[in-house]
Amino acid sequence: MKNRQVTLLLFGYLISLWHSTFANEPASATKTFTSSQTLFANPERGWITHRFSNDLYDVNSLRESAEKVSLVLIKIDISAYKNSVHIGQSKLNEIRSALDTCRQQGLKVIMRSAYSWNLVLAPEPKSIETVKTHIMDMKPIYYQYEDIIVAVEMGMFGPWGEMHSSYFSTTNTQLYYPIKTAALQQVHTTYMSALPNTRSVLLRTPYYIRQIFNSNTPLSSAEAYTGTPKARTGYHNDAYLASSDDEGTFSYGWSRAQELAYISQMTRYAFFGGESFGTPNSAYNKAQNAMLESKQQHMTYLHRDYYKPIYNAWGTAGKEEFTRKLGYRFQLKTLSYSKEVAPGGILSFSLKVQNIGFSAMHLTRPVKLILDNGKTGSARITYNTNLSVDPRNWTPEANIISIDRKLRIPANISQGVWQLLLILPDNNTRLQSDVRYTVRFANENIWNTDGTHVLTKDISIQASASGSRTKDNVFQEVTI
Ligand SMILES: *[C@@H]1O[C@H](CO)[C@@H](O)[C@H](O)[C@H]1NC(C)=O
Ligand SMILES: *[C@@H]1O[C@H](CO)[C@@H](O)[C@H](O)[C@H]1NC(C)=O
Ligand SMILES: *[C@@H]1O[C@H](CO)[C@@H](O)[C@H](O)[C@H]1NC(C)=O
Repeated sequence: MKNRQVTLLLFGYLISLWHSTFANEPASATKTFTSSQTLFANPERGWITHRFSNDLYDVNSLRESAEKVSLVLIKIDISAYKNSVHIGQSKLNEIRSALDTCRQQGLKVIMRSAYSWNLVLAPEPKSIETVKTHIMDMKPIYYQYEDIIVAVEMGMFGPWGEMHSSYFSTTNTQLYYPIKTAALQQVHTTYMSALPNTRSVLLRTPYYIRQIFNSNTPLSSAEAYTGTPKARTGYHNDAYLASSDDEGTFSYGWSRAQELAYISQMTRYAFFGGESFGTPNSAYNKAQNAMLESKQQHMTYLHRDYYKPIYNAWGTAGKEEFTRKLGYRFQLKTLSYSKEVAPGGILSFSLKVQNIGFSAMHLTRPVKLILDNGKTGSARITYNTNLSVDPRNWTPEANIISIDRKLRIPANISQGVWQLLLILPDNNTRLQSDVRYTVRFANENIWNTDGTHVLTKDISIQASASGSRTKDNVFQEVTI
C-alpha cells in the first residue's frame, strides 16, 4: 500500500516536471499526402515538339495535348546568312516573335540554330569567326527571353546542327565526321559569353564534352550549379537508344557502359534530352530498357513526334510513364506541424518530399509558403515567405527529402484557423504570377488552380497557445 502511494507521488511529480520542461513545445500533428498518377504539364521538362522559328503552328494546343507538352525546340534556319557577317534583322525579329508566341502560350523553349536543315555536307561559313559572330548576334535575344529559354543546343555545325558532316569536321570532304576540338572549344566559349550564366549549352555527344574540357571526368557535385563552363554544359542525343553505339553517338573508343556511366554522373546536375531513333522494339529502345536508361541518364526531355513507332511500341501505359517521369516529378509525403500556435509564436514545420522523376530540376526557383485565412476577395489575408531550400537538390537519388524548419508567426496576425499553402513559382519575376509556370506536385486533393498546394487547413492561431512569442510582425524562417 505504502509503496503504491510513493509510486503514484513519484509519477505525479514526473508529470509536473515533464509539463514544466516541455510546455513550450506546442502539440504537433502529422498529415500524410496521397500520391497521384494524373498527367499534367510542368515547366522545363517532358515531351517536346519541334518548330521552325518561322512556323509556330498549333502551339496553343500543346499544353492540353495527351503528352502535356510545355517545352518546344525552336529550330532556327540561318542558311541565308552563310555569307554575311551578321544575321539579318528580319531573322532576329522572327525569332523574337516566335519566343513571344511561346511565352503567350505558357511554353518554354530549347533553341538550336543551323546553316542547313537537310543532309548537306559542310553548310557553314568557312570562317569560324563568322560562326562566332552569328552566335553573338543572338546574345540580346538570349538575355531578353532568359525567362523562357531553358537551354540551347549547340547546333551551328553540319546539317540540322547535328554536329557532324561539317566544314569544321576532322575530314570535311565526306559525311559524318566529327567536329575538330579547336572549333568545338571556340564555339563553346562563345556560347558561354552569349548566354546568361544561369543557362547551359547542350552538346551532341559526351565525347565532345570530354574534348572541350580535355578531361574524362564528368561534372562533379562540387562543381554543379556553380556557373563554371563545365557546370553550364549538358548533352543531347538525337539517336537515342538506336543501337549499341546510338548510331555514332558513342563511337569514340569508349564502350556503351563507359559512356552511360559518364552520362549518368554528369546528368545528375546537367540537362539531358533528345530524340529516339531506330527500329521499334529493338534491344535498346524497347519499353523496359528505355525506362531503365532514361532513369539512369536522367532524361529531362524527349521529342514526342519522332520516332512515333518506337513510342507506340511502348503502349499507352509506357508512354504515360514517360509523360510523368521525364525530368522531375515531385511528390509530397508527409507534413508534421504545430496545430496550435500563438501570434508571434513558432510554428514547427517538417515536410517530406520525393522526386520520382528521371532527373533533378536543373533551374532553381523559390519554394514559397503562404499563410492564408481562407477567405475570398478583399477579406482574404495572406503572409508569404520563401523557404531556404533549393529544389535542384531534390534529386531522384536523394530519396525522401526532409525540410525541417521553424517559422515565426506574425505577432499581429488575427486569431482563428489558418491554412498553410505551398507554391513553387517561376524564378523570374516576369513569370512569377503566371500559374502555367508554377510546379505542380503529384498528389491528390491538394492542388489549386492558382498554382498553390494546400498543406493543411487547420492551423489554429490562438493567444492561449503554449510556447514563446515575440512582437515581430513578419512570417519567416527563424533559427532557434
Ligand atoms: C533566380 O533569380 C535570382 C534573383 O532574381 C537570380 O539571381 C538567379 O540567377 C536566378 N537563377 C536562375 C537559375 O535562373
Ligand atoms: C522569394 O524569392 C523570389 C525569387 O528570388 C523573389 O522574387 C521574391 O521576392 C521572394 N519573396 C519573398 C516573400 O521573400
Ligand atoms: C502587420 O504588420 C505588418 C508590418 O508592420 C504590416 O505590413 C501588416 O499590414 C500588419 N497586418 C495587420 C493585419 O495588421
